[in-house]
Amino acid sequence: MSEHTPHRPAPTGAFGIDIGGSGIKGAPVDLLVGELSADRVRIPTPQPATPDAVAATVAELVDSFHLSPDLAIGVTFPAVIQHGVARSAANVDDSWIGTDVTQVVSKATGRTALAVNDADAAGYAEARYGAARGRDGVVLVVTLGTGIGSCLVVDGTLVPNTELGHLEIDGHDAESRAADSAREREDLDWEQWAARLQRYFRVVEDLFWPDLIVVGGGVSKKHEKFLPLLDLRTPIVPAMLRNSAGIVGAAALAAQGVALD
Ligand code: BGC
Repeated sequence: MSEHTPHRPAPTGAFGIDIGGSGIKGAPVDLLVGELSADRVRIPTPQPATPDAVAATVAELVDSFHLSPDLAIGVTFPAVIQHGVARSAANVDDSWIGTDVTQVVSKATGRTALAVNDADAAGYAEARYGAARGRDGVVLVVTLGTGIGSCLVVDGTLVPNTELGHLEIDGHDAESRAADSAREREDLDWEQWAARLQRYFRVVEDLFWPDLIVVGGGVSKKHEKFLPLLDLRTPIVPAMLRNSAGIVGAAALAAQGVALD
């Protein structure tokens, strides 16, 4: 034991919840290995997805597990989450802006909770347990989905709410051109989409000079279709945790009670 051993041992488990546009998913997480310790449960996101309706669904999801009362709950949300409060609503109901998501979830579940941006959660999981595990320096995780999410981790420490999906590039909000939803909406082939990603990642690497870029989001499982088409100076690799990343990262951040609260 080192002299830095904390008085209370770090928790070895927490519960992670991923709030998305179509589903709310949750599972307990083993923090020693960064893996789900039980099958995740998915409940469709209520429509309209107002704070009250989502809180009730989150409580239902948590209650479907038999959890120890002191297990912390981490929740991802697809918006800027500053000290628990949603500050933006790019792809979610506007009524969330100004809502204290951390408070809504702790009230609904009666537990210690922490709400974090969805990309921050997924990226932190990749940094701690996945594709960037053990990497020092500046790691940038970019999630490609309905929007573009970003997560900046510097020597293992998360710099929250970077929102690099909203860089203005060539007069456009970047995610409107380069998110996976743009590929689907415009029926782009892999080469056409890769050209947009090339422009996006070139701007990002010129501004941030990361040591490593990790690409997440559902489409990252097809990484061999587009990552080899990119010509960047920064090494760029696919995410490893795939669809459990948000749950694992939210749980890990909640257990730490990090400086995000
Ligand atoms: C939001 C981010 C979010 C990303 C991925 C963007 O539109 O502004 O907060 O992380 O989408 O969901």
